[in-house]
Amino acid sequence: MKLTPEQRTQFDRDGYLFFPGLFTPQETQNLNDAVPELYSRREDFNVREKGKDAVRTNFAAHLYSKPFAKLARHPRMIEPVEDLLGEQLYMHQFKINGKMAFEGDVWQWHQDYGTWLNDDMMPTERAMNIAIFLDDVNEHNGPLMFIPGSHKKGVVDAKHDLTTTSYPLWTVDNDLIRQLVQRGGGKGRYDADGHSVGGGIVSPKGPAGSMILFHSCLVHASGSNLSPFNRVAVYLSLCAVSNHIRRHKRPEYIAHRDFTPITCLPDDCLVKDYPVDLPWKDGVPATAMQTSMEPMAAMKKAA
Ligand code: SIN
Ligand code: MN
Repeated sequence: MKLTPEQRTQFDRDGYLFFPGLFTPQETQNLNDAVPELYSRREDFNVREKGKDAVRTNFAAHLYSKPFAKLARHPRMIEPVEDLLGEQLYMHQFKINGKMAFEGDVWQWHQDYGTWLNDDMMPTERAMNIAIFLDDVNEHNGPLMFIPGSHKKGVVDAKHDLTTTSYPLWTVDNDLIRQLVQRGGGKGRYDADGHSVGGGIVSPKGPAGSMILFHSCLVHASGSNLSPFNRVAVYLSLCAVSNHIRRHKRPEYIAHRDFTPITCLPDDCLVKDYPVDLPWKDGVPATAMQTSMEPMAAMKKAA
């Protein structure tokens, strides 16, 4: 899937592109059906909400679950990002976020690249996020909130928040969020049909199978899910191969260490059988749990 010149202009301006219903219900079915069993596993790769059993995020399913291994090689996701970054990609991070009915907690305001820089020593912002909705996303179940254009600020100041939720995140403080939102249109206004338009925060909403592509410096967040509707979504963080991380401070199930370029499967891979490698199908290797604050040897030599 190639992007049109209009889409490239829109991406440059807003920092994201939304593709409602890009994947059919038939294509998302096998993925959705696989989630409860993955979430039931008592493994480090399932991070549960603070003080709760509900899964906040599951990491690295593409290495041990066939439907997700196929998704991770889907041309509708990989090709537009290769096109935008002009280079082959590897999978930096792969997660299935739960945001479960009644239990899903907030994601504070942040840029993903802030975490990849501060924790993983990813050299530049040449990486991209893709979100695929596995449930319908509406205004009630904690949709993502973006500040359009905020990616133009580059990397902004962030603090390491280890306490608000069960998952540490480099977060952006409220004063800067206020400025960025104001600059983007503030509250916006209501049009004649009662729709809110022109504001500095947007929330793409749509049916299961919708896809969002967003810049690694786009500032985003999401509220808690008080509704009775799950909001399961898959996030691929795709990094240009030459921009691979330089430090293994986090376990490999969170920040991957295999920088092999992704090879796409055919477009019908979610509804047909294709062979895929599942290197962690018998468990996460012990080496994946080893971490270090030291930059990788190659980086040290280069320095
Ligand atoms: C994220 O920013 O990584 C996740 C946000 C969400 O799932 O709402
Ligand atoms: Mn994020």
